[in-house]
Amino acid sequence: MHFNSEIPKICCFDSGIGGLTLLYECVRRLPCAEYFYFADNYNVPYGSMSSHQLLEKADGVFKQISLLNPSAAVIACNTVTAQCIAPLRRKYNFPVVGIQPAIKPAAAAGSCAVLATPSTAESNAVKQLVLRYGMGRTRVVPCRELAAYIEGNIFNIEPEKICALLPQIDAEAVVLGCTHYSFVKKIIKKHYKRPVFDGNAGTAEHLRAILGTFDHRHEKLPEIHFIGGDEEKNRRVFSNMEAILNSGKITF
Ligand code: DGL
Repeated sequence: MHFNSEIPKICCFDSGIGGLTLLYECVRRLPCAEYFYFADNYNVPYGSMSSHQLLEKADGVFKQISLLNPSAAVIACNTVTAQCIAPLRRKYNFPVVGIQPAIKPAAAAGSCAVLATPSTAESNAVKQLVLRYGMGRTRVVPCRELAAYIEGNIFNIEPEKICALLPQIDAEAVVLGCTHYSFVKKIIKKHYKRPVFDGNAGTAEHLRAILGTFDHRHEKLPEIHFIGGDEEKNRRVFSNMEAILNSGKITF
């Protein structure tokens, strides 16, 4: 097999901190890479924007990404993937990977509720996913305030507040259709007492498959640049990721 000896350049994009949960999975699988994390924290939530507004925002970031000549771009935002991935792929000539709700494995486990932002829930892309993989027993439930609460309170999450923002569901499995929700996966699991799925591992695996021709055997540590939005906050959240993911009550 012919290996590309360059270090891959990977650009991730989310409205705010949510995509850091996917970046974390990518870095674990592909440590020998240079990462650029683009965010727009001051404009969260993207989940209540129109598809037109979302495309304008995403295209602005993709213009910056294209200047870096990336090996791949990762849309670490279900909302932007659902509303914008097709036009972005048509316009830009680098590989674009997008996170989507993990409906296929969840629906195989039983009836399933997909928690998502209003924009993701309304999108044709997710309606198509439900038809294709939902086995006739999958419903998408919009959550209006959850992503904004997590974005605003990440260093002091109140589990009771999360539970108060979770909708009632009638399903055997839960899918997290927004990367922000992955920060509180443990709280959600405890609340519903159901298996909880997210698309982070699958998306990171997909990225690894796409970058398969790079030689990942370098000794180099990952380099991560934070660009846009509240860069300091994103850096701080990423360096406390283990603690945040493993804790119910987080106080820093
Ligand atoms: N993290 C994003 C998603 O996966 C969007 C959160 C928001 O800004 O509404 O959908």
